[in-house]
Amino acid sequence: MKVCRRVTFNSAHRLYRKDWSDEQNNAIFGKCNNPNYHGHNYVLEIWIEGNIDPETGYVIDLKIVKDLAKFEIEERFDHRNLNLDCPEFKDLNPTAENIAVVCWNLLRAKLDSKYGLSIRLWETENNLVEYAGS
Ligand code: NI
Repeated sequence: MKVCRRVTFNSAHRLYRKDWSDEQNNAIFGKCNNPNYHGHNYVLEIWIEGNIDPETGYVIDLKIVKDLAKFEIEERFDHRNLNLDCPEFKDLNPTAENIAVVCWNLLRAKLDSKYGLSIRLWETENNLVEYAGS
């Protein structure tokens, strides 16, 4: 059984590599390489997998996941510039893929190991990535 909590955060980013030339960055990342950054309204789905506790009828109290999402994701990334404000991306290109890995690692570290964890990160209405630790 899987249950899901959704959290949103609005962040700015720029996709580029410091070790590449402007030409190479533009060729690979195009508009996403805009030096003045651009923003997304990210939607993160946090899926917790486990058995239904026969006593409570819950897989997990979603209040626990709500608080995890608030402290580990929203307060860390909402209204931030990922490249400039967030040490997690100091040397990591903040693509949706890399943001998903960072979010998963932050959540995994705080979630009881008896639960499975997978996440889906929507960068736009049409683009999403999914990560479950590999
Ligand atoms: Ni972008």
